[in-house]
Amino acid sequence: MAKWSGIVAVVSLTVFLMSVTAATVLPIHPYLKVEDTFISQLYDTSNYGFLQIDNGLARTPQMGWSTWNFFACNINETVIKETADALISTGLASLGYTYVNIDDCWSRSTRNLKGEMIPDPKTFPSGIKALADYVHSKGLKLGVYSDAGIFTCQVRPGSLFQEKNDAELWASWGVDYLKYDNCYNLGLPPQKRYPPMRDALNDTGRTIFYALCEWGIDDPAEWAGKIGNSWRTTDDINDTWISMTTIADINNKWASYAGPGGWNDPDMLEVGNGGMNYHDPFSKQFLHSDNKFVMQPFFCEIACWFKWCMSAPLIIGCDVRNITADTLKILSNKEVIAVDQDPLGVQGRRVYASGPDGCQQVWAGPLSRNRLAMVLWNRCSKAATITANWSAIGLEPSISVSMRDLWKHEVVSENTVGSFSARVNAHGCEMYILTPRRSTRSSI
Ligand SMILES: *[C@@H]1O[C@H](CO)[C@@H](O)[C@H](O)[C@H]1NC(C)=O
Ligand SMILES: *[C@@H]1O[C@H](CO)[C@@H](O)[C@H](O)[C@H]1NC(C)=O
Ligand SMILES: *[C@@H]1O[C@H](CO)[C@@H](O)[C@H](O)[C@H]1NC(C)=O
Ligand SMILES: *[C@@H]1O[C@H](CO)[C@@H](O)[C@H](O)[C@H]1NC(C)=O
Ligand SMILES: *[C@@H]1O[C@H](CO)[C@@H](O)[C@H](O)[C@H]1NC(C)=O
Repeated sequence: MAKWSGIVAVVSLTVFLMSVTAATVLPIHPYLKVEDTFISQLYDTSNYGFLQIDNGLARTPQMGWSTWNFFACNINETVIKETADALISTGLASLGYTYVNIDDCWSRSTRNLKGEMIPDPKTFPSGIKALADYVHSKGLKLGVYSDAGIFTCQVRPGSLFQEKNDAELWASWGVDYLKYDNCYNLGLPPQKRYPPMRDALNDTGRTIFYALCEWGIDDPAEWAGKIGNSWRTTDDINDTWISMTTIADINNKWASYAGPGGWNDPDMLEVGNGGMNYHDPFSKQFLHSDNKFVMQPFFCEIACWFKWCMSAPLIIGCDVRNITADTLKILSNKEVIAVDQDPLGVQGRRVYASGPDGCQQVWAGPLSRNRLAMVLWNRCSKAATITANWSAIGLEPSISVSMRDLWKHEVVSENTVGSFSARVNAHGCEMYILTPRRSTRSSI
């Protein structure tokens, strides 16, 4: 086995060698030529320009936490510090959730006489620099928020036409991340409003993650790679099934544009905010009699699938200080995080749909080391058996794979050929990694 993986590691480095030695090594994913230059129709990456913005960040999608989904405007320096502490004590930080992002409402509603933004003195009396120092002392990073318009969405000062001064101020505070929103934009095209902030951030000399939040209006996937490290592809998420499925389908359309350096952003996580557990009609079947929610399937829609399988930014949106064991378990699934953070950086996508309104779906995407991630997602209102045919996920029919179940954390099948089926709960999903074994055809 050791010898075998050594061979694979060497071989995966060159297309040529792979084709020459194909009969004697593990069958490779047919479309995977070299790990970093992926070519296929099924997993099209043709629209992706390698490291367009080139600020060294976002080699894998960003991970962290943001105030907005749970706290909205009800924020202050205490809650940010407590959350930083909680990211450490829960172990989430060591799994990669390191950006602590303050969304809208950190700034006072008017600039000072020098024209500078100032932290709201009631809620951030110690200032953002003190907060950045605190967060950095924990090994974490700090994010702030502004807007490519004259105001933010909550009517705080925006940065349009003030890019240089604002970027310099944030850099002087030690800010590491900017989410840049789209309200009050004077109707100017985003292609004009977003690049000046890229240049202003770059000019500071401080490495700052640049997350565009243009809501997908002008199809940012087509142009934002040159500008930011991620770009929102859709309207804001909310904690409902319809929001999540709508966003997933839109984000799916832009899969070919995502890659290391620049990612499609289907918005922050709602896991742990409770809406989909308790308001989704299908979720009732997963409630214990004591009204506690049973860990498993329909969390996966958010958790695994829509985010993790899609190389999406993983920005936690719940109150980490008060996180439940179930939520923590979902957010801490190392194997699923590894899929999201796979160095190959090819976004997973929907490859097959059947059943009523196509609600029985197969989503898949290639991973490094010739593996494949696959999700069986049941969007129907009844449990169903979903089958993934190898031709639908881009494997040669004769290839034998081992199937690792990322919920159970075990190999559920050592030797699967041609197709794989599983029973999936209503609004549930199952997630696997497929690792090709020696081809049944080829001999050594
Ligand atoms: C800070 O914000 C949190 C969350 O909204 C709130 O519970 C707390 O009371 C606030 N603290 C202060 C001092 O305002
Ligand atoms: C600024 O942009 C250049 C060119 O893309 C890049 O090499 C450099 O790393 C950037 N610097 C910062 C601080 O982002
Ligand atoms: C949630 O998102 C859905 C889908 O985008 C939208 O139809 C709905 O109005 C949103 N709900 C709220 C409360 O914003
Ligand atoms: C903590 O979460 C529980 C439910 O999990 C909720 O009942 C409680 O109000 C939350 N506490 C705070 C301070 O938000
Ligand atoms: C998989 O799809 C191919 C092509 O559509 C078909 O010929 C084959 O019978 C299918 N295999 C299974 C196991 O369903």
